Amino acid sequence: MRYKLQNTTTEILISEKLPTLANKKMVLIVDEHIEELYKDVINGITEDSPQYIFTAKEKFKTIDEIIKIYSFFIKNNVNRETVVVGIGGGITTDIASFAASTFKRGCKLQLIPTTFLGMIDASIGGKTAINFEGVKNAIGTFYPAEKVFVYPPFLKTLAEDDLRSGWTECLKASLIKDNGLYELLLESKKIITKEIIQKAIAIKIGLCKKDLYDSGERRKLNLGHTFAHVLESVSNYQVNHGDAVAIGIRKAAECSRSKRMLNEIDFLKIIKLLDRYDLPKNIPDELKKRVNEIGNEVIIQDKKAGEKVRIVLFNGFQDIVLHKVDATNEIIDLLVS
Ligand SMILES: NC(=O)c1ccc[n+]([C@@H]2O[C@H](COP(=O)([O-])OP(=O)(O)OC[C@H]3O[C@@H](n4cnc5c(N)ncnc54)[C@H](O)[C@@H]3O)[C@@H](O)[C@H]2O)c1
Repeated sequence: MRYKLQNTTTEILISEKLPTLANKKMVLIVDEHIEELYKDVINGITEDSPQYIFTAKEKFKTIDEIIKIYSFFIKNNVNRETVVVGIGGGITTDIASFAASTFKRGCKLQLIPTTFLGMIDASIGGKTAINFEGVKNAIGTFYPAEKVFVYPPFLKTLAEDDLRSGWTECLKASLIKDNGLYELLLESKKIITKEIIQKAIAIKIGLCKKDLYDSGERRKLNLGHTFAHVLESVSNYQVNHGDAVAIGIRKAAECSRSKRMLNEIDFLKIIKLLDRYDLPKNIPDELKKRVNEIGNEVIIQDKKAGEKVRIVLFNGFQDIVLHKVDATNEIIDLLVS
């Protein structure tokens, strides 16, 4: 698969065999877990390129870590012709991409995502990010990778929670656009296949191509995210992002139905898919009080200055719209219902 965003063409290779990376000069930024679990695989394709081993936790996706990576680049004479290869889940590919996009105003970038979410979402579409002063993805650039190598055997060692996050994003993609992914997921044995990965990537690429800079079409990918962000915030990020988005998609469907934007038949088609993948349905009771207390505040903070709150809703099956909300209370009421 190939796609072009701005001036960069990204080549995506999905294969049960990783090719040898034949770059003249390259450095690697590798998720520590992957380095431990797949040392031989990584060494087999990259020979003896310098490696920066990164502990993939949100609290390290920061400017302090970026400074350490820049020092590693200086030590290894990285220049604009050097290929920076990010190997890991979304945290690792986000930070590796940010470092590559800013050092010497941009080095070459290749990614090897190792999580389901990384394969269908984080490594695709050119967003790079680090967190700053507690604000997630506060600093970033748009910098698509030249190559993305998707190697599904990595998924065998992925933890249950991380698999679920990937499934949620995959289901979300199938509810945004029709390319046969919805039907495939309904019939699937819940095994991640090349076809599922390919179709989910195609939906994300379709939206990014129309709107690299996230000012219109691409925002459809935020389906479920307004609800999810309230939930993550009030739980102090104890509810994981994937679970929060799964609940958020359900709430978006309920909201769309109550506004008569979505009829009962289409509503049930959405719920049928969510139920099939055993994703969480509702927010834990103990969090409902907190949602009532500070939910409004979280939503107001999220919105852009001067704008109305916008949520992503269904205007029909696989028909997504950004909907202006007059009263944020309606979001809160739905969350605690
Ligand atoms: N740039 C984008 O467009 C974009 C899109 C979505 C999400 N993201 C970002 O992605 C991040 C979440 O990424 P994620 O969910 O892919 O995971 P992650 O990077 O948070 O990794 C999750 C855990 O799985 C481990 N891991 C990774 N691959 C493994 C494997 N094959 N086997 C065993 N363990 C493995 C990691 O070490 C880590 O402990 C967030 O920071 C989010 O902001 C970015």
